[in-house]
Amino acid sequence: MIEHYSVLHREVAEFMKNLKEGFFIDATVGGGGHSYLILKQNPNVKLIGIDKDDYALNVAQEKLKDFEGRFWLVKSSFKDIDKVVEKFNVKPVVGVLFDFGVSHFQLKLPRGFSFQREEPLDMRMDTSSSLTAYEVVNFYPEHHLLKILTDYGEEKFAKRIVKSIVDYRRKKRIETTKELADIVYKSYPPNLRHSRIHPATKTFQAIRIEVNNELKEIEEGLEKAINITDKEGLILAISFHSLEDRIVKNTFKKYKELKFLEILTKKPITPKEDEIEENPASRSAKMRVARRI
Ligand SMILES: C[S@@+](CC[C@H](N)C(=O)[O-])C[C@H]1O[C@@H](n2cnc3c(N)ncnc32)[C@H](O)[C@@H]1O
Repeated sequence: MIEHYSVLHREVAEFMKNLKEGFFIDATVGGGGHSYLILKQNPNVKLIGIDKDDYALNVAQEKLKDFEGRFWLVKSSFKDIDKVVEKFNVKPVVGVLFDFGVSHFQLKLPRGFSFQREEPLDMRMDTSSSLTAYEVVNFYPEHHLLKILTDYGEEKFAKRIVKSIVDYRRKKRIETTKELADIVYKSYPPNLRHSRIHPATKTFQAIRIEVNNELKEIEEGLEKAINITDKEGLILAISFHSLEDRIVKNTFKKYKELKFLEILTKKPITPKEDEIEENPASRSAKMRVARRI
């Protein structure tokens, strides 16, 4: 089984020091790394781990086996965190953690998240959901694709890329990640094709966000998390790109103004040098933390 390296684990552990007795929700349990440290550090805490991905839930089950009887895993989107908490009858909870995005093992599975390998265009975190990257790339109207690449990818060359996609798919369907990555690569101006970040990075991010409805679910999940958390409880959110971080920042701000939250991180917490060296994928992580009042 492929493991996941949990980002900002020391910083998360620091906030998890004095949790009150009760239920904690790991809204993105993934490989179970953060859940492990929460359960280990807080013998008085029980945990519900949520994930959309069956593979993740299996990895987490194995990782957390030392804590049998203190944790429960649920297949769900965190946008339904309120329903999960109601079903278990554990409201209000002592805290909620979100660690957005995909895990290392999802990137390594043949799900089409990576443009480094030849794989079918899928990109679903929940493999039982219906929309795939193949549908988005081959059947979305031109204007819709353009909006996705512009809004979710913040891609400067969205127009050129979408034109190339539409020209290509008139001749043949785009079947694989490599095919899509090549189309994007060739749409980039030649002098910008070889920078540190591959030209297809933003396009892949945008399509992944669309396939998994990521931003809307983050907004909904965060709002609900704030509402199910007890006074003094913590809400922690780790983002990996500016669109996610903006939602966290604005949601926290809105609930601060409503006198629901105290923001504990004036600026987001980012990984230290040694963590980035050990796990380069952590370099874009940003964590914001708030406390219910
Ligand atoms: C970065 S990983 C979490 C890793 C985890 N914190 C750990 O330490 O192992 C993100 C996980 O969130 C899941 N995920 C993303 N969006 C989700 C959503 N809307 N609802 C539930 N799970 C989601 C993904 O399937 C993935 O397993």
